[in-house]
Amino acid sequence: MRASGDTPIPRHVAVIMDGNGRWARAKLLPRQAGHRAGVKTAKIIIKACVQHGVGVLTLFAFSSENWQRPKTEVGNLIELFVHSLENEIAELHKNNVLVRFIGERAAFANRLQIAMQQAEKLTESNQGMVLNIAVSYGGRWDIIQAVRKVSALVVSGDIQPDEINEDRISQSLSLSGLPDPDLFIRTGGEQRISNFLLWNLAYTELYFTNTLWPDFNTECLKSAIDWYAVRQRRFGRTSEQLSQEN
Ligand code: IPE
Ligand code: IPE
Ligand code: MG
Repeated sequence: MRASGDTPIPRHVAVIMDGNGRWARAKLLPRQAGHRAGVKTAKIIIKACVQHGVGVLTLFAFSSENWQRPKTEVGNLIELFVHSLENEIAELHKNNVLVRFIGERAAFANRLQIAMQQAEKLTESNQGMVLNIAVSYGGRWDIIQAVRKVSALVVSGDIQPDEINEDRISQSLSLSGLPDPDLFIRTGGEQRISNFLLWNLAYTELYFTNTLWPDFNTECLKSAIDWYAVRQRRFGRTSEQLSQEN
């Protein structure tokens, strides 16, 4: 996809929004203040992605491993998540955004599960950007639940083991039916995947920035998109093959 400036726009952007805690600590504030600031950034970046014409945005909000944080931080994060969802869903709907949640949602209290269902129901017919919010999500969990679905088909005799292929696993993952991320962004300086979309990131361009998530803004997003625009995506082939095709 190309925008007016002839810049290739990633169809799918996946983001690890990291660095809220350090942002708060540097300002001598509680970690929760960092998370609150992080929500503001998320709102700005969602809007900016809509404006850039990004088709799918996947945000990592809470990982399977984040349950291991102190109980109060986990509780505060969930509370903030429920509030933000309740406050923002109407605006997202107005902007034609289709909202989906990926992750082990049974791990959450009923109230949050219902809020997630309602948000999905409200926005399910929207034709604009798809926004996936990963909560209690882990790439390994995703692969395990996909393997369980496929195994059930083998046990029931619907398919044979040798019919298990990439497509079948892809279709059983949380992001089935969506293109794999073209651009991955991680803020906060760490250069790791932290159990995000393990299967889907196989050929994604990985962009790491030291900017802490609450400081990430539309210019930072533009820099990441510009960086993406000049990647040569070879998918295993040679540069010569690619230039012959163009
Ligand atoms: C990311 O910021 C938000 C979540 C993981 C929920 P962190 O809370 O990990 O911030 P740092 O990495 O401690 O700075
Ligand atoms: C990854 O950040 C998860 C989210 C941003 C939701 P973490 O802060 O949990 O990652 P690690 O622990 O530094 O790898
Ligand atoms: Mg972190």
